[in-house]
Amino acid sequence: MQTQLTVSLLLFATCQCLPFYNGFYYDHILNNISSNGNGEAIHFNGVKLVVYTPEDDLFGYRGGNITLPCSFHYEPALQSPRRFRVKWSKLHKDNTKEKDVLVAIGLRQRSFGEYKGRVHLRQRVPDEVSLVITDLRLEDHGKYKCEIIDGLEDESGIVELELRGVVFPYQPHHGRYQLNFHDAKKACEGQDSMMASFEQLYKAWEEGLDWCNAGWIRDGTVQYPITLPREPCGGKDTAPGVRNYGERHKHLHKFDAFCFSSALKGKVYYLEHPDKLTFAEAKEACVQDNAKIAKVGQLFAAWKFQDFDRCDAGWLDDGSIRYPIAFARLNCGPPEPGVRSFGFPEKHNKFGVFCYKMS
Ligand SMILES: *[C@@H]1O[C@H](CO)[C@@H](O)[C@H](O)[C@H]1NC(C)=O
Repeated sequence: MQTQLTVSLLLFATCQCLPFYNGFYYDHILNNISSNGNGEAIHFNGVKLVVYTPEDDLFGYRGGNITLPCSFHYEPALQSPRRFRVKWSKLHKDNTKEKDVLVAIGLRQRSFGEYKGRVHLRQRVPDEVSLVITDLRLEDHGKYKCEIIDGLEDESGIVELELRGVVFPYQPHHGRYQLNFHDAKKACEGQDSMMASFEQLYKAWEEGLDWCNAGWIRDGTVQYPITLPREPCGGKDTAPGVRNYGERHKHLHKFDAFCFSSALKGKVYYLEHPDKLTFAEAKEACVQDNAKIAKVGQLFAAWKFQDFDRCDAGWLDDGSIRYPIAFARLNCGPPEPGVRSFGFPEKHNKFGVFCYKMS
């Protein structure tokens, strides 16, 4: 009891520096304390097995490769090498469940599920058991456990992988607050993205995201990021922060969505075409150009990672009209960079179009 009290007080003190209160931030810190496997050790026969993983998060991007470092040694050093097994697994959000990624015994390696064919061990020195993941996907972000199994006991370390990406708020064509949790998830997936996690939304807020409509995020809560406090968005006198409505009913309650997309394989471009086009013509024109009409997540990714900049409004796959401004200037919307949105006009109206091509 005494210990618990001390820990909470300590956390409270630590968090005074934060610009806002959010229960999830505390959870995050608690998780880090309780799951910190860095350099932990077990003892058997007076020999200690120590597993090392980096404490800092690693960053990858979609389509890229990443190495999750892990190594181990014995204290004192062993006279002759022991047989050991390596198991990499991915932890579920709350650290209770895990999913096998790769198991290796000696030279034999086996990978599982969506990691099949995309992972292998890197062992440049005998005590290295780093995991290489190739062709990273949006779903790959999270905590990975590197486990060395030797005899009856095992020891492990945790590596956290994040994807560099962009968070964007999403409303469907029928307007504001029309999505329950499940619809929101589908809406993000339909735009070549996935629902944002709290960490991703928080990071986007730190980078300046300000959105005065509440949206679902992956943990089932509804939140919205405010950098410029104002009356309709929680009050003028409140601190900037990610405002939290807490958990909502996943079927009954309806909000917008916060989606997350990472770097693109391929490119988004504004189709040079002699005429402005209706929505149906726009889709067809991209196909004629051996491409597809771009999705919202693709436009945001091109804007964020390729500085895609075009001051012409164009159709996107969901029937919305937007344009990306990486270098803000006169007559191209607000003074900050951003993807400008004109909502969902009637489909017979004529505009340009953004296409997407896998390079
Ligand atoms: C990732 O690794 C694979 C296989 O090792 C390689 O073929 C590919 O070019 C790498 N991709 C990048 C983006 O470096």
